[in-house]
Amino acid sequence: MRDFHDKVAFVTGGASGMGFALARAFGRARMKVMLADIDVDALENAVAELKKDQINVRSVECDVSDRTSVQRAASETLAAFGKVHMVCNNAGVGIGGALELTSPGDCDWIIGVNLMGMVHSCQTFLPHIKAHGEGGHIFSTASVTGMLPVPGSAVYNAAKAGIIALSQSLAAELAGTSIGVSVLVPGFMRTRMGDSVRNRPKRYGERTVASPEGREQLEALIRAGMDPDEVAEKVMRGIQENELFIFSHPEWRSTLEEHFQRILAVYPEA
Ligand SMILES: NC(=O)c1ccc[n+]([C@@H]2O[C@H](COP(=O)([O-])OP(=O)(O)OC[C@H]3O[C@@H](n4cnc5c(N)ncnc54)[C@H](O)[C@@H]3O)[C@@H](O)[C@H]2O)c1
Repeated sequence: MRDFHDKVAFVTGGASGMGFALARAFGRARMKVMLADIDVDALENAVAELKKDQINVRSVECDVSDRTSVQRAASETLAAFGKVHMVCNNAGVGIGGALELTSPGDCDWIIGVNLMGMVHSCQTFLPHIKAHGEGGHIFSTASVTGMLPVPGSAVYNAAKAGIIALSQSLAAELAGTSIGVSVLVPGFMRTRMGDSVRNRPKRYGERTVASPEGREQLEALIRAGMDPDEVAEKVMRGIQENELFIFSHPEWRSTLEEHFQRILAVYPEA
């Protein structure tokens, strides 16, 4: 998407962290923005903050893991702005802990928000974007842990690997159309992700008790992470260039290189 002016962005998880930074970047590029989030109080604050920047922003309560909730949010967005061009699948939650300690509720929650959230938004909005014919972009937030063997968050990593796979398949399905696809594959970012459980719906039951040391370690890494506004700048450039992969964190390059070399080393020659 080269021209953002007057286009409409639907941003999930837009009330905090990376989603909020993306919403602000979209708004400053003169897009109209719908923030979709499960946290109503945070939505209210985010809208007030973005309005200080003269951004044309609205908000809608939405649980991306619930298809009906996404469809309702889509209807509200179309009623408010008429069209949607950019779908920003960014809502995500995570908790640390070994796989055998991850409860069925944890699994449903993590897969539901991170992976099914993307499926729900894409299936809801793609027919609309195709129908209006003005072009568009499907952007999603994955994680570098979706590409690497990292211990302690297996279900989250699997969901993020799924987002990368969905994005690649979607890019192939939409090749030659005016709808682009990008997936952000970031390292740590300074957001509220260490406290994802604040927005865990009761239906998923109590969270698994992760080790306090593991949690502290994760929170320290997130606190030392990249500023989301810096990541948002890279995302804007990536979307404009229709880059499939947006890699924001250069410090992970050597680890990725070693990983892919290990795979190629055992891959049979033709
Ligand atoms: N922070 C990091 O270090 C990091 C690293 C890699 C990837 N990510 C990814 O970045 C994305 C953004 O997270 P963040 O780091 O800004 O965290 P954050 O907690 O600051 O923001 C996440 C937002 O998602 C919302 N949300 C949670 N459940 C939802 C649901 N069911 N429906 C709709 N919205 C929901 C939250 O209310 C919150 O506003 C996530 O996909 C996350 O997995 C984060």
